[in-house]
Amino acid sequence: MSRNIYSEPALYDAVNWWKNNDVDFITGLADEIGGSVLELAAGTGRLAVEIMDKGHPYLGVDSSPEYVDYANDKIQSKGFIGNVILGDMRDFSLNEKYDFIFIGFNSFFHLLTNEDASKCLDSVYTHLSTDGKFVIDLFIPDPSFLYKDENKLYHVTNFTWPEDGSKGMVKERNHYNDETQINHIWWYFYKEKMEKATLFEFDMNMIYPDTMDRLLSEAGFTILNKYGNHDKSPFNEESDYQIYVCGK
Ligand SMILES: C[S@@+](CC[C@H](N)C(=O)[O-])C[C@H]1O[C@@H](n2cnc3c(N)ncnc32)[C@H](O)[C@@H]1O
Repeated sequence: MSRNIYSEPALYDAVNWWKNNDVDFITGLADEIGGSVLELAAGTGRLAVEIMDKGHPYLGVDSSPEYVDYANDKIQSKGFIGNVILGDMRDFSLNEKYDFIFIGFNSFFHLLTNEDASKCLDSVYTHLSTDGKFVIDLFIPDPSFLYKDENKLYHVTNFTWPEDGSKGMVKERNHYNDETQINHIWWYFYKEKMEKATLFEFDMNMIYPDTMDRLLSEAGFTILNKYGNHDKSPFNEESDYQIYVCGK
């Protein structure tokens, strides 16, 4: 039986130990834009603490109760004021406008239909201040990844198991449905001896840049910048990322 990766926050942090290429980009935007920050799908508070460290008022929203508790413990242990609340990025109502709203680290791909994606964008639009900026950070779906041999396991990362400090490894396989554009991913978490794996499964909606452009414009956003990487290099056909900076 598989487990839900979004109910095991310490394990998520352990496996994503390498993820920091977006920190300067996101905190730099928070500095530039100024004012209040709202992060959707805030996760374990990875970016929350970096933003609060720069002195910005911050609120996060995430749909995992375990992640919300874990993120708030992390925030409090660092003495920051700010928090993450339980909510769904497709439909939330906060009675407040924010100057900088963002959805980082591919989280928008967890909205599995274009209807859900549009609902989320509509909620963002409602919560964005008149001159506010909205940022979405996604990788570009890569056919060489999506159409790999489904029966083979591919190495993802090495990590340290949080409960006992033993060495671990993640391997994956996937099935991509090119009609629904959903990529189903199986992640196998091994301990050092590689005897038996713990299985996690999740889905991602492989939204391509042309669809993303359309969804944003249908929701009323203007794309102010489209970057191909976190160093703000312009988006082109060689890019690994599609990163949108939008205004109203
Ligand atoms: C890849 S993690 C990213 C976490 C965090 N943004 C980061 O950069 O480390 C995806 C997050 O999306 C959250 N999530 C998935 N669907 C969601 C939804 N409909 N509303 C809010 N959060 C959601 C999960 O609980 C998880 O924390």
